[in-house]
Amino acid sequence: MEEPFEKLLSGRTFQALSALVYQHSRIRLGPDKQALVANRLRKRLRALELGSYEEYCHVLHSPHGADEVEELVDLISTNHTHFYREPEHFAFLTKRALPALVGPLGATGAPLRLWSAAASSGEEPYTMAIAVAEFLRDHPGLDWEITATDISHRMLAEAREGIYSMGSVKPVPLELLKRYFQKGFGARTGVCRVKPELRRHLRFERVNLFQEHLPVAANQHVIFCRNVMIYFDPPSRALAVERLARHLAPGGYLVVGHSESLMGIPHGLQPVQQGVFQKT
Ligand SMILES: C[S@@+](CC[C@H](N)C(=O)[O-])C[C@H]1O[C@@H](n2cnc3c(N)ncnc32)[C@H](O)[C@@H]1O
Repeated sequence: MEEPFEKLLSGRTFQALSALVYQHSRIRLGPDKQALVANRLRKRLRALELGSYEEYCHVLHSPHGADEVEELVDLISTNHTHFYREPEHFAFLTKRALPALVGPLGATGAPLRLWSAAASSGEEPYTMAIAVAEFLRDHPGLDWEITATDISHRMLAEAREGIYSMGSVKPVPLELLKRYFQKGFGARTGVCRVKPELRRHLRFERVNLFQEHLPVAANQHVIFCRNVMIYFDPPSRALAVERLARHLAPGGYLVVGHSESLMGIPHGLQPVQQGVFQKT
């Protein structure tokens, strides 16, 4: 009988893979993730016609290994997301952040800038975009843009397309679905696409939160960085928060996931409500 693939990933090789993933992305893979890693890499090994995880490690450490390390991180990272995930944050955007930000910005003529810093397949930045577009129906004339970034090329390609199954847009209220999505017909039955009027406000870019220079405009008014810091260790979390806070405009907001505490991180931001912090 063929041996299960995960058994063939030795503890030593798993540690070598984990170290590479950490160096590149700061994602910490605990020992409980060994079977998951073995499973997720199985197809990749077959595609590269490699017979073992050890051989795969040699490829990763070879002079051309850098691209494959990106592929590895892409394969093992968790990309789960959905429209209106943690809906309190979008209510906060509409009820508190936008009313506070839009008046002063309108007077200066400067654009409103938002950043989704772990955008995955796009549901989060598009939900932000819907909230902003809805709010600005009553405050027309303000220029706005959302930068959506992620470490994963694969996820960003999906996000850029903005095509979703009818099942995944279920959390979007019907009125907003009609206003901001086009339903597919013929070969595209069962999916819908974010309308170009909304998509034109979003810019998608591959950004690793730990890369040397973050190619994102300074003075962001709202930054969502949700459900990614749980995968980082405390020093990396602190570093990420420090870098994000530096990108906030005075008075701007940082929003993190409900299960992500900033306890013990010296961030200098003012807590506003669960998961929301303001730069004063
Ligand atoms: C679970 S998803 C969160 C999606 C969305 N923010 C939400 O809350 O629904 C986590 C995302 O973080 C991305 N990620 C992981 N490490 C990263 C890093 N070092 N820099 C940027 N993105 C990263 C992953 O590729 C993944 O798409």
